Amino acid sequence: MNPTVFVSRMIPHTALDIVTAVCDAEVNTADTHLSQADLMARVQGKEGLLCLLTDEINEAILAAATQLKVVANVAVGFNNIDVQAASRRKILVTNTPGVLDDTTADFAWCLLLASARKLVEADRFTRAGQFTGWGIMLFCGEDVSGKTLGICGLGRIGRGMARRAKGFDMRILYTDAVRAPAEVEAALDARFVDKETLFRESDFVTLHVPLLPETRHLIDAAELRMMKRTAYLVNAARGPVVNEAALVQALSEGWIAGAGLDVYEEEPKIHPGLLSLPNVVLAPHIASASRDTRLAMATLAVRNCVAVLEGKPPITPVA
Ligand code: DGY
Repeated sequence: MNPTVFVSRMIPHTALDIVTAVCDAEVNTADTHLSQADLMARVQGKEGLLCLLTDEINEAILAAATQLKVVANVAVGFNNIDVQAASRRKILVTNTPGVLDDTTADFAWCLLLASARKLVEADRFTRAGQFTGWGIMLFCGEDVSGKTLGICGLGRIGRGMARRAKGFDMRILYTDAVRAPAEVEAALDARFVDKETLFRESDFVTLHVPLLPETRHLIDAAELRMMKRTAYLVNAARGPVVNEAALVQALSEGWIAGAGLDVYEEEPKIHPGLLSLPNVVLAPHIASASRDTRLAMATLAVRNCVAVLEGKPPITPVA
C-alpha cells in the first residue's frame, strides 16, 4: 500500500507528479487557504503533510494527525510549524534551504533600488499622465553606489546581498547572533559590528534573520530612531521582525527616508498606515517568486516528504 499524503495547496505539477507517483495523495485542488478545522480534518490519517508557510501547523493539528511522520514545508522559514511539538511526536519537519537564496537576494535588491530611486512612485506618476517634461529635481532619490549597507543576518541570503553590494562598491556592515568565519568576512569585505553601529552608520539596512523569539521586533522604535534620516529599511525576511506600527511612525515623521517591504506583521493584513505612505514600496511576499525557484522549492519539499515516507533520511531536515 502506498503511503498517504495531504498536500495543503496546489504546487507546480512537475513537483506534484513526484509525490503522486509513489503516494496516495489528497490535494487541496481548490488552492484556497484552509481553516484550522479543515486542515485538521484533512490531515487525519495521513502519513505525510506538504504545506505552505501560510498553514499554521500547531500542537492541535499535530495531535489530530496521529499517523503523521513528516511535515514538509515549501519554504525555508518554518515559523509556521511548532517544531518542538512535532519532535515530541517523532514527526520530522523539513524546509527548503539553499534553493531560493539568489532569487530572494535579487528581490531584496529590487526593493532597495526601487525605494531609493522612487521607482514605484515615479511609475504611478507617469501612468497618471503627470509627466509633462524633464525636471531637475523630479523624483530625486538617493544614490546607492558607494553607500553603506547594513545586513542583519549574514546567512545564505544575507551573503547574497553582500555579494551583490560589492558590485555597487558599497561598504558592508553586518550583525548576527554568530560571527561569520574570517574567510567569509574577507571574501565579502563585510565588517562585523554591534547592532547600534549598524543602525547608526548604514544608509540601507536589510533584514535576513529567521523569525525567532529573539528576532521578533528586532527593529522597533529605538532602532528606527538610531537610523539616519536618509536611510532605508528593507525587509524580505519575516514581518514580525519589524514593529510595523513603529515603522509607520518612522516613515510618516521622517525618522528614516523610506522602506521596501515584502513581508508584514500579520500577513496578509497590512498596517493601514503603510498603505497610504508614498515612501514605502510594498510587495506581497514574493521575494522567492521566480518560476525556477518556486519549482525548486516545491521539488525539494516533495523529495523530503517522499524520502521520509520511504524510510530514508530527509534531504533538508529542520533540526
Ligand atoms: C520562505 O521560503 O521562507 C519565504 O518566505 C518564501 O519563499
